[in-house]
Amino acid sequence: MLLFTGKGGVGKTSVAAATAVHAAAAGARVLVTSTDPAHSLADALAQPLDDRPRAVDVPGAPGRLTGLQIDAQARLEHHWSDVRDYLVSLLGWGGMGAVAAEELILLPGIDELFALIDLEQQVASGEYDLVVVDCAPTAETLRLLALPDALGWYVERIAGPGRRMARALGPLVRGAGLGALPMPDEPVFAAVERIQDQLARVHTLLQDPARAAIRLVCTPERLSVAETERTATSLSLFGYGVDALVVNRVLPDEVTDPYLARWKDRHAAQLAELRTSFAPTPVLRAPLLDDEVIGVDGLRRLADALYADADATGWREPVRPVTVERTAEGHLLRIALPFATRGELDLHRRGSDLHVRVAGVRRTVALPGSLRRDRVAGAALADGWLEVRFRPQAAGVEVGS
Ligand SMILES: Nc1ncnc2c1ncn2[C@@H]1O[C@H](COP(=O)(O)OP(=O)(O)OP(=O)(O)O)[C@@H](O)[C@H]1O
Ligand SMILES: [Mg+2]
Repeated sequence: MLLFTGKGGVGKTSVAAATAVHAAAAGARVLVTSTDPAHSLADALAQPLDDRPRAVDVPGAPGRLTGLQIDAQARLEHHWSDVRDYLVSLLGWGGMGAVAAEELILLPGIDELFALIDLEQQVASGEYDLVVVDCAPTAETLRLLALPDALGWYVERIAGPGRRMARALGPLVRGAGLGALPMPDEPVFAAVERIQDQLARVHTLLQDPARAAIRLVCTPERLSVAETERTATSLSLFGYGVDALVVNRVLPDEVTDPYLARWKDRHAAQLAELRTSFAPTPVLRAPLLDDEVIGVDGLRRLADALYADADATGWREPVRPVTVERTAEGHLLRIALPFATRGELDLHRRGSDLHVRVAGVRRTVALPGSLRRDRVAGAALADGWLEVRFRPQAAGVEVGS
C-alpha cells in the first residue's frame, strides 16, 4: 500500500493517480482510492468513481486498474453507529442535546480513519498487487495516522475495565432506581472491540515497511520544502516509513525564458538540498508539464517523467523509523527524527509509556515488553536519530537520584 500526502495543491492526487496508472499499465492489479471528500481523483482520471470498486479504463491494460472514491461518512455510519448512539445517550443524560452531543463525539478525522479500516480490508483481500491512496492534506492526514494510536488507547480503556464495571454495576444501578444513567450494553462493547481490532490491523499495516509506505509530495519552493521536512519528522515519530519524496512541478531544462531564470536556480537549489537532507530516501522529480494533468494519457506522461529510472510498482523498504536493539548495557530504542533539533525535543517516561514531543507534535510510544522493566539511562539526538538508552532496573538505580 502506498499513501501519497503533502500540503496544498502540490499534485498529490495527480501523482497518486499517475503512479496507479503506471503500475497498472505495467501489468499489476491496482486499486487507486482517495480519502479526500473532494472528488478530485475522478477528475484526475477523467472517469466517474463512486463508493464501490469500479474498473478504470487504461488502454492496453484491461481490467488492471480499479478506482474507489470512499464515502467516509457512510463508512463512519456503518462502523460507528452503535458506539455513537451510546455516547449520545450518555451525553444526553448529562444534559446535552442530541445534536450537540453528536457534533462533540465526531473527532476530526475520524471518518478518514474508518476509510482506512476499509482499505486495510482491501489490502488483506489479496485482490490487488498495489493499493494507492490519495490522502487528504497534511494536517488531517497526520491526525488521522496518529489516531490508531490514540483511539486504541481510548478504546482499550472502555472495553477492558468498563465492561467489567458495567456488568457489576448494571444491576445495582437499576436496583437502586437510578436507571437513568445509560450503561453501555453488549452491542456497544462488541462494536468497540471490533473497531479496536480493526484499528490494530490498520496500525500494524501502516507501520510495516514491507507492506506500506508513504510518499511525500512537494514542490521545489522553500515553504513547501519546510512543511515537507516537518511532515517527515512527524511521520517518523509515529513510526510510518517514507519510501520516496516526489518533487513535482520542477521547471524543465527546455524552459529558457530569462523571466524564469531565478525560479530555475531556486528549483535546482531546493532539489540539491532535498537530496542531501532526505538521503538515503530517494528523491523523484517530475517536471512542470505544458498542460494540466487530466485523464489517463496525461497521467501516463507525468508517470513516465517521474519514474523514468525508478520502479513505481513496488517500493524500496523505507528505513524503519523505530527500532529496538540489545546492547551490552541493556537496550537502545532509536526513533528517526530527521529534521528535529535539540531545542524542540521533550522526552519523559510514564509507566510503560514514553512521551516524546518534537516541534509541537506529541506521541506516546508504548514501550515494547522487553523495555518495560528497564529504566531510561539517557537520551541523545544524533544524526537525525533520537537514541534512548535503557538499562535493567536492578543494575542501574543510582543512589540519591
Ligand atoms: N507536474 C505537473 N505539471 C502540470 N500540472 C500539474 C502537475 N502536477 C499537478 N498539476 C496540476 O496541478 C493541479 C493540482 O494538482 P492536484 O489536484 O494533483 O494537487 P493536490 O496536491 O492533490 O491538491 P489538493 O491539496 O487540493 O488535494 C491540477 O490541476 C493538476 O492537473
Ligand atoms: Mg488532491
